[in-house]
Amino acid sequence: MSGHGLLNGRVCAVTGGARGIGRAVCERYAEEGAAVAVCDINDDEGMRVRDALRASGARSAYVHMDVTDAPSVEAGATAVEAALGSVDVLVANAGILKQDRVLDMPDEAWQQTLDVNLTGVFNCARSFGRRMAERGKGGRILIASSMAGIVGGAFYGAYAASKFGVIGLAQSMAVELAGDGVLVNCVCPGAIQTEMIEQVIHEQAAATGRTADDVRNENLAPIAMGRFGEPTEVADIYVWLASDLARYVTGQRVVVDGGMLIT
Ligand code: NAI
Repeated sequence: MSGHGLLNGRVCAVTGGARGIGRAVCERYAEEGAAVAVCDINDDEGMRVRDALRASGARSAYVHMDVTDAPSVEAGATAVEAALGSVDVLVANAGILKQDRVLDMPDEAWQQTLDVNLTGVFNCARSFGRRMAERGKGGRILIASSMAGIVGGAFYGAYAASKFGVIGLAQSMAVELAGDGVLVNCVCPGAIQTEMIEQVIHEQAAATGRTADDVRNENLAPIAMGRFGEPTEVADIYVWLASDLARYVTGQRVVVDGGMLIT
Protein backbone atom coordinates (compact mmCIF):
# COMPACT_ATOMS: atom_id res chain seq x y z
CA MET A 1 0.00 0.00 0.00
CA SER A 2 1.36 3.41 -0.93
CA GLY A 3 -1.08 5.58 1.07
CA HIS A 4 -0.98 6.93 4.61
CA GLY A 5 -3.38 4.48 6.25
CA LEU A 6 -6.05 7.19 6.47
CA LEU A 7 -8.83 4.61 6.02
CA ASN A 8 -7.27 1.60 7.71
CA GLY A 9 -9.91 -0.94 8.72
CA ARG A 10 -12.84 0.91 7.12
CA VAL A 11 -15.33 -0.78 4.82
CA CYS A 12 -16.38 1.44 1.92
CA ALA A 13 -19.00 0.97 -0.80
CA VAL A 14 -18.63 3.01 -4.00
CA THR A 15 -21.48 3.15 -6.52
CA GLY A 16 -20.43 3.73 -10.11
CA GLY A 17 -17.08 2.28 -9.06
CA ALA A 18 -16.40 0.56 -12.38
CA ARG A 19 -14.88 3.55 -14.13
CA GLY A 20 -14.07 7.26 -14.05
CA ILE A 21 -14.11 9.11 -10.73
CA GLY A 22 -15.70 6.13 -8.94
CA ARG A 23 -12.90 3.85 -10.01
CA ALA A 24 -10.32 6.39 -8.81
CA VAL A 25 -12.12 6.55 -5.44
CA CYS A 26 -11.97 2.74 -5.17
CA GLU A 27 -8.25 2.79 -5.93
CA ARG A 28 -7.41 5.62 -3.51
CA TYR A 29 -9.55 4.11 -0.73
CA ALA A 30 -7.76 0.78 -1.15
CA GLU A 31 -4.37 2.57 -1.06
CA GLU A 32 -5.42 4.16 2.23
CA GLY A 33 -6.16 0.76 3.77
CA ALA A 34 -9.92 0.39 3.22
CA ALA A 35 -11.81 -2.71 2.14
CA VAL A 36 -13.70 -1.61 -0.97
CA ALA A 37 -16.98 -2.78 -2.49
CA VAL A 38 -17.20 -1.80 -6.15
CA CYS A 39 -20.94 -1.38 -6.91
CA ASP A 40 -22.10 -0.89 -10.49
CA ILE A 41 -24.25 -2.19 -13.33
CA ASN A 42 -21.20 -2.61 -15.56
CA ASP A 43 -20.25 -6.07 -14.32
CA ASP A 44 -17.24 -6.68 -16.58
CA GLU A 45 -15.52 -3.39 -15.73
CA GLY A 46 -16.53 -3.61 -12.09
CA MET A 47 -15.02 -7.06 -11.69
CA ARG A 48 -11.84 -5.84 -13.39
CA VAL A 49 -11.55 -3.06 -10.80
CA ARG A 50 -12.14 -5.56 -7.99
CA ASP A 51 -9.46 -7.88 -9.38
CA ALA A 52 -6.95 -5.03 -9.66
CA LEU A 53 -7.65 -3.95 -6.08
CA ARG A 54 -7.16 -7.49 -4.84
CA ALA A 55 -3.94 -7.79 -6.82
CA SER A 56 -2.69 -4.67 -5.01
CA GLY A 57 -3.31 -6.42 -1.67
CA ALA A 58 -6.66 -4.84 -0.74
CA ARG A 59 -9.83 -6.60 0.39
CA SER A 60 -12.43 -6.00 -2.29
CA ALA A 61 -15.73 -7.29 -3.65
CA TYR A 62 -17.79 -6.52 -6.72
CA VAL A 63 -21.53 -6.18 -6.18
CA HIS A 64 -24.02 -5.69 -9.01
CA MET A 65 -26.23 -2.80 -7.94
CA ASP A 66 -28.66 -0.75 -10.02
CA VAL A 67 -29.06 2.40 -7.95
CA THR A 68 -32.38 3.24 -9.62
CA ASP A 69 -33.95 0.10 -8.18
CA ALA A 70 -34.50 0.15 -4.39
CA PRO A 71 -34.63 -3.68 -4.02
CA SER A 72 -31.37 -3.98 -5.99
CA VAL A 73 -29.74 -1.43 -3.67
CA GLU A 74 -31.02 -3.20 -0.56
CA ALA A 75 -29.85 -6.60 -1.83
CA GLY A 76 -26.53 -5.01 -2.77
CA ALA A 77 -26.07 -3.53 0.70
CA THR A 78 -26.67 -6.98 2.20
CA ALA A 79 -24.18 -8.52 -0.23
CA VAL A 80 -21.53 -5.90 0.62
CA GLU A 81 -21.93 -6.62 4.34
CA ALA A 82 -21.71 -10.37 3.75
CA ALA A 83 -18.53 -9.98 1.73
CA LEU A 84 -16.64 -7.30 3.66
CA GLY A 85 -18.52 -6.45 6.88
CA SER A 86 -20.58 -3.45 7.99
CA VAL A 87 -20.13 -0.40 5.82
CA ASP A 88 -18.46 2.69 7.32
CA VAL A 89 -18.44 4.84 4.19
CA LEU A 90 -20.89 5.06 1.29
CA VAL A 91 -19.83 6.98 -1.80
CA ALA A 92 -23.01 7.56 -3.84
CA ASN A 93 -21.18 8.40 -7.05
CA ALA A 94 -23.11 6.70 -9.88
CA GLY A 95 -24.41 9.30 -12.29
CA ILE A 96 -25.39 9.95 -15.90
CA LEU A 97 -25.51 13.04 -18.08
CA LYS A 98 -28.13 13.72 -20.76
CA GLN A 99 -27.64 17.06 -22.49
CA ASP A 100 -30.53 18.90 -24.07
CA ARG A 101 -32.19 22.27 -24.03
CA VAL A 102 -35.09 22.04 -21.59
CA LEU A 103 -37.61 22.89 -24.34
CA ASP A 104 -36.35 19.96 -26.45
CA MET A 105 -35.88 17.46 -23.66
CA PRO A 106 -37.72 14.15 -24.08
CA ASP A 107 -39.55 12.79 -21.03
CA GLU A 108 -37.23 9.78 -20.90
CA ALA A 109 -34.06 11.88 -20.65
CA TRP A 110 -35.51 13.89 -17.78
CA GLN A 111 -36.75 10.78 -15.99
CA GLN A 112 -33.58 8.70 -16.47
CA THR A 113 -31.45 11.57 -15.16
CA LEU A 114 -33.54 11.95 -12.02
CA ASP A 115 -33.81 8.18 -11.59
CA VAL A 116 -30.03 7.67 -11.49
CA ASN A 117 -28.71 10.96 -10.12
CA LEU A 118 -31.37 11.82 -7.54
CA THR A 119 -33.53 8.78 -6.72
CA GLY A 120 -30.44 6.58 -7.05
CA VAL A 121 -28.63 8.63 -4.42
CA PHE A 122 -31.73 8.57 -2.20
CA ASN A 123 -32.04 4.77 -2.51
CA CYS A 124 -28.39 4.26 -1.54
CA ALA A 125 -28.25 6.88 1.20
CA ARG A 126 -31.42 5.45 2.77
CA SER A 127 -30.33 1.78 2.67
CA PHE A 128 -26.78 2.34 3.88
CA GLY A 129 -27.77 5.20 6.22
CA ARG A 130 -30.30 3.01 8.03
CA ARG A 131 -27.65 0.36 8.56
CA MET A 132 -25.14 2.90 9.86
CA ALA A 133 -27.68 4.38 12.28
CA GLU A 134 -28.79 0.95 13.53
CA ARG A 135 -25.22 -0.18 14.06
CA GLY A 136 -24.52 2.86 16.22
CA LYS A 137 -20.89 3.42 15.22
CA GLY A 138 -21.39 6.41 12.96
CA GLY A 139 -20.38 6.58 9.33
CA ARG A 140 -19.97 8.75 6.28
CA ILE A 141 -22.31 9.26 3.35
CA LEU A 142 -20.57 11.06 0.49
CA ILE A 143 -22.55 12.13 -2.54
CA ALA A 144 -21.51 13.12 -6.05
CA SER A 145 -23.00 16.48 -6.87
CA SER A 146 -21.32 18.74 -9.43
CA MET A 147 -20.54 22.30 -10.40
CA ALA A 148 -23.99 21.91 -12.00
CA GLY A 149 -25.31 21.53 -8.44
CA ILE A 150 -24.23 25.12 -7.76
CA VAL A 151 -25.00 26.89 -11.03
CA GLY A 152 -27.24 25.74 -13.87
CA GLY A 153 -26.34 26.21 -17.51
CA ALA A 154 -27.54 25.64 -21.07
CA PHE A 155 -28.07 21.96 -21.94
CA TYR A 156 -27.80 20.98 -18.26
CA GLY A 157 -31.42 21.39 -17.09
CA ALA A 158 -32.13 17.84 -15.96
CA TYR A 159 -28.58 17.22 -14.79
CA ALA A 160 -28.49 20.47 -12.79
CA ALA A 161 -31.90 19.73 -11.26
CA SER A 162 -30.62 16.35 -10.08
CA LYS A 163 -27.30 17.72 -8.80
CA PHE A 164 -28.97 20.62 -6.93
CA GLY A 165 -31.40 18.04 -5.55
CA VAL A 166 -28.77 15.86 -3.90
CA ILE A 167 -27.37 18.88 -2.06
CA GLY A 168 -30.75 19.43 -0.41
CA LEU A 169 -30.97 15.72 0.36
CA ALA A 170 -27.48 15.74 1.89
CA GLN A 171 -28.14 18.80 4.04
CA SER A 172 -31.37 17.25 5.35
CA MET A 173 -29.72 13.92 6.09
CA ALA A 174 -26.77 15.68 7.74
CA VAL A 175 -29.17 17.23 10.27
CA GLU A 176 -31.18 14.03 10.76
CA LEU A 177 -28.15 11.75 11.22
CA ALA A 178 -25.74 14.00 13.15
CA GLY A 179 -26.92 12.45 16.41
CA ASP A 180 -26.00 9.01 15.05
CA GLY A 181 -22.50 10.16 14.17
CA VAL A 182 -23.19 9.81 10.44
CA LEU A 183 -21.69 12.72 8.50
CA VAL A 184 -23.18 13.53 5.10
CA ASN A 185 -21.39 15.66 2.51
CA CYS A 186 -21.42 16.39 -1.23
CA VAL A 187 -18.49 16.69 -3.61
CA CYS A 188 -18.91 19.13 -6.51
CA PRO A 189 -16.34 18.49 -9.23
CA GLY A 190 -15.83 20.86 -12.13
CA ALA A 191 -14.75 19.34 -15.44
CA ILE A 192 -12.92 16.08 -14.80
CA GLN A 193 -11.17 14.03 -17.49
CA THR A 194 -13.41 10.95 -17.70
CA GLU A 195 -15.51 9.32 -20.40
CA MET A 196 -18.38 11.54 -19.25
CA ILE A 197 -16.52 14.75 -20.19
CA GLU A 198 -15.54 13.24 -23.55
CA GLN A 199 -19.25 12.54 -24.12
CA VAL A 200 -20.04 16.18 -23.27
CA ILE A 201 -17.48 17.44 -25.77
CA HIS A 202 -18.55 15.18 -28.61
CA GLU A 203 -22.27 15.79 -28.10
CA GLN A 204 -21.77 19.57 -28.00
CA ALA A 205 -19.61 19.38 -31.14
CA ALA A 206 -22.23 17.31 -32.97
CA ALA A 207 -25.06 19.62 -31.86
CA THR A 208 -23.29 22.84 -32.93
CA GLY A 209 -21.29 21.69 -35.96
CA ARG A 210 -17.95 22.66 -34.39
CA THR A 211 -14.84 20.53 -33.96
CA ALA A 212 -14.25 18.61 -30.74
CA ASP A 213 -11.05 20.66 -30.23
CA ASP A 214 -13.00 23.93 -30.40
CA VAL A 215 -15.54 22.66 -27.88
CA ARG A 216 -12.76 21.35 -25.63
CA ASN A 217 -11.04 24.76 -25.63
CA GLU A 218 -14.34 26.48 -24.88
CA ASN A 219 -14.83 24.19 -21.89
CA LEU A 220 -11.27 24.86 -20.71
CA ALA A 221 -11.59 28.66 -20.97
CA PRO A 222 -13.38 29.27 -17.63
CA ILE A 223 -10.99 27.06 -15.63
CA ALA A 224 -8.42 29.24 -13.84
CA MET A 225 -5.92 26.37 -13.70
CA GLY A 226 -6.31 25.89 -17.45
CA ARG A 227 -6.88 22.13 -17.50
CA PHE A 228 -9.48 19.50 -16.71
CA GLY A 229 -9.09 17.72 -13.36
CA GLU A 230 -7.90 14.16 -13.03
CA PRO A 231 -10.22 11.60 -11.38
CA THR A 232 -7.65 11.02 -8.65
CA GLU A 233 -7.75 14.73 -7.75
CA VAL A 234 -11.44 14.32 -6.94
CA ALA A 235 -10.81 10.96 -5.26
CA ASP A 236 -8.40 12.62 -2.84
CA ILE A 237 -11.25 14.84 -1.60
CA TYR A 238 -13.38 11.73 -1.08
CA VAL A 239 -10.47 10.28 0.94
CA TRP A 240 -10.35 13.37 3.12
CA LEU A 241 -14.13 13.40 3.69
CA ALA A 242 -14.09 9.70 4.64
CA SER A 243 -11.16 10.11 7.04
CA ASP A 244 -10.82 11.32 10.62
CA LEU A 245 -9.38 14.55 9.23
CA ALA A 246 -12.96 15.58 8.29
CA ARG A 247 -14.58 14.49 11.56
CA TYR A 248 -16.22 17.90 12.15
CA VAL A 249 -17.51 18.41 8.59
CA THR A 250 -21.14 17.68 7.70
CA GLY A 251 -23.83 19.07 5.41
CA GLN A 252 -21.22 20.65 3.14
CA ARG A 253 -20.59 20.79 -0.58
CA VAL A 254 -16.92 20.69 -1.39
CA VAL A 255 -16.03 22.23 -4.75
CA VAL A 256 -13.13 20.64 -6.68
CA ASP A 257 -12.94 22.65 -9.88
CA GLY A 258 -9.46 24.05 -10.52
CA GLY A 259 -10.89 27.54 -10.08
CA MET A 260 -13.91 27.44 -12.40
CA LEU A 261 -16.50 28.95 -10.09
CA ILE A 262 -14.34 32.00 -9.34
CA THR A 263 -13.74 33.05 -12.96
P1 NAI B 1 -18.69 7.87 -15.72
O1 NAI B 1 -19.77 7.94 -16.73
O2 NAI B 1 -17.27 7.73 -16.18
O3 NAI B 1 -18.98 6.67 -14.68
C1 NAI B 1 -20.25 6.53 -14.11
C2 NAI B 1 -20.39 5.13 -13.54
O4 NAI B 1 -21.70 5.00 -13.00
C3 NAI B 1 -20.24 4.02 -14.60
O5 NAI B 1 -19.38 3.01 -14.14
C4 NAI B 1 -21.66 3.51 -14.78
O6 NAI B 1 -21.74 2.15 -15.17
C5 NAI B 1 -22.24 3.76 -13.39
N1 NAI B 1 -23.70 3.79 -13.40
C6 NAI B 1 -24.52 4.44 -14.27
N2 NAI B 1 -25.81 4.18 -14.01
C7 NAI B 1 -25.81 3.35 -12.92
C8 NAI B 1 -26.84 2.72 -12.18
N3 NAI B 1 -28.13 2.87 -12.50
N4 NAI B 1 -26.49 1.95 -11.12
C9 NAI B 1 -25.19 1.77 -10.80
N5 NAI B 1 -24.17 2.33 -11.48
C10 NAI B 1 -24.48 3.11 -12.53
O7 NAI B 1 -18.87 9.18 -14.81
P2 NAI B 1 -17.79 10.07 -14.03
O8 NAI B 1 -17.34 11.15 -14.93
O9 NAI B 1 -16.80 9.21 -13.37
O10 NAI B 1 -18.73 10.77 -12.93
C11 NAI B 1 -18.95 10.19 -11.66
C12 NAI B 1 -19.89 11.08 -10.88
O11 NAI B 1 -19.32 12.39 -10.77
C13 NAI B 1 -21.26 11.26 -11.53
O12 NAI B 1 -22.27 11.34 -10.54
C14 NAI B 1 -21.12 12.58 -12.25
O13 NAI B 1 -22.36 13.20 -12.46
C15 NAI B 1 -20.23 13.35 -11.30
N6 NAI B 1 -19.50 14.43 -11.93
C16 NAI B 1 -18.62 14.19 -12.96
C17 NAI B 1 -17.94 15.24 -13.56
C18 NAI B 1 -16.98 15.06 -14.69
O14 NAI B 1 -16.50 16.07 -15.24
N7 NAI B 1 -16.61 13.85 -15.09
C19 NAI B 1 -18.13 16.63 -13.10
C20 NAI B 1 -19.06 16.75 -12.00
C21 NAI B 1 -19.71 15.69 -11.46
